[in-house]
Amino acid sequence: MILGIVQTHPAFGEIARNQKQIEDLMGDRQADLWVLPELALTGYEMRGREESLQLSEELPAGPTTKWLAQMCRERNCYMVMGMVEREGRKVYNGSVFMGPKGIVGRYRKVHLYDKEVERFDPGDIPFNVYDIGIARVGVMICFDWRFPEVMRTMALRGAQVIAHPSNLVLPFCQAAMVTRTFENNVFAATANRIGVEDRDGRKVSFTGRSVIMGTQGELLASGAMTATDVMTVEIDPKVADDKSINKYNDTFTTRRVDFYEM
Ligand code: ACM
Repeated sequence: MILGIVQTHPAFGEIARNQKQIEDLMGDRQADLWVLPELALTGYEMRGREESLQLSEELPAGPTTKWLAQMCRERNCYMVMGMVEREGRKVYNGSVFMGPKGIVGRYRKVHLYDKEVERFDPGDIPFNVYDIGIARVGVMICFDWRFPEVMRTMALRGAQVIAHPSNLVLPFCQAAMVTRTFENNVFAATANRIGVEDRDGRKVSFTGRSVIMGTQGELLASGAMTATDVMTVEIDPKVADDKSINKYNDTFTTRRVDFYEM
């Protein structure tokens, strides 16, 4: 399968412009699974919960969800996109997993970062793994990388590929993904953004350098640091089913869970 990332530079609140940027960057490049950044169409620095609600939409009826569904139908592909999801009066830093036949799943960020705590409700959906035929895919959002339990849980649930929409501000995620993929023997696509936002009393810079990682922690593709970018890599998801380290050791069965405090 071909795994792709679109690394964007969204303009805050300019949904149509941000959609067009994604369409233009994808051009006629083909991938079976595209991963887009966190909050890909809205931008990141909401001025509070009310603004998050204003920029939110419900699944599956929301306009940008419909746009994504059309993209997946036309391109016969799957896409994971970060978005602001609303349900009743609850608002989440979420992501939608779309395919050519409609919504495959949704995720709501479990580990909210910094001021996100004031803007969103904490995620309340387990770390599901979705079998889309060509791969079993788990989804996490940005700061979730900082908690090794997230990818471990999805790997133990059979994930072969981790889709990771991000708006990275800390410097270490791209380096940490070497370990996250190596310690679980899974593929991962961390789709980041670039640019600076200055809307909520502070300047926030996003670090670019999106990465597609292999199951041995190897860097398969990496994006620009300060420019938009698009990258695609051919992978064989079945490689992630091999957890063997050597004749005696295995990523899962060598674990001594009775010694761990979980
Ligand atoms: C982040 O989780 N967007 C830093």
